[in-house]
Amino acid sequence: MVRLHRVGKKYAPSRVALADVSFELQRGEFAYITGGNGAGKTTLLKLLFASEKASQGAITVNNRDLSALHNNKVYLYRREVGFVFQDFKLLSDLTVFENVALPLGIRKMTAREMEFRVRGVLSLVSLADRASDYPKQLSGGEQQRVAIARAMVGKPSLLLADEPTGNLDSKTARDIMTLFSEIREMGTTVLVATHDESLMQEFPARVIELFQGRIASDTRSNS
Ligand SMILES: Nc1ncnc2c1ncn2[C@@H]1O[C@H](COP(=O)(O)OP(=O)(O)OP(=O)(O)O)[C@@H](O)[C@H]1O
Ligand SMILES: [Mg+2]
Repeated sequence: MVRLHRVGKKYAPSRVALADVSFELQRGEFAYITGGNGAGKTTLLKLLFASEKASQGAITVNNRDLSALHNNKVYLYRREVGFVFQDFKLLSDLTVFENVALPLGIRKMTAREMEFRVRGVLSLVSLADRASDYPKQLSGGEQQRVAIARAMVGKPSLLLADEPTGNLDSKTARDIMTLFSEIREMGTTVLVATHDESLMQEFPARVIELFQGRIASDTRSNS
């Protein structure tokens, strides 16, 4: 479903963010990307979201070659992909409802269906009663859950999440991980960048570890 072959990314000639990264993810697989600050986790997710281009190698998602993706076709590709950003990227002038509805705006969908979908994902993240609030009226953890709802609303086949539990207390973090497991059981491939060792122990899955932009280990848990 996702395939990286000898992928490299340089932001500048001397700034190598990723080097010789190869792995595959099956449909419905759940995997973590881990590694220290600056190891290349966010860069890897950005390449998969087509918001950065690889400098080397090949990336295919759903049989699409991302290096051949035209700029004016990126929005079509992104309908298949949900992204939870490290810094949420909620729009402060829009309500929670409007933020979550954003990815649906470019599709032909009736207002009623949009309402149904947005309300549905907001209840999944336990924010059904905050739909008309603005992001600044929410706590950090609540904003993070809005970002997760927005990433899921389009029913993506690939969900990318960058430190999605970074600002959450441990109970909410567990709820979010349970939610990701449920999404994955519906057939979505999920790739989560995280530093959180205890979370990875509690929700065991494949762990792809980066060190200075290279894969240091790629291990599957037995459970
Ligand atoms: N837009 C950019 N321009 C130049 N260099 C960048 C850019 N984005 C990231 N880098 C560099 O690429 C390397 C990998 O960064 P990246 O953000 O992918 O790391 P990360 O593993 O997500 O780190 P963190 O745990 O701190 O979020 C770092 O050395 C970083 O300084
Ligand atoms: Mg990062």
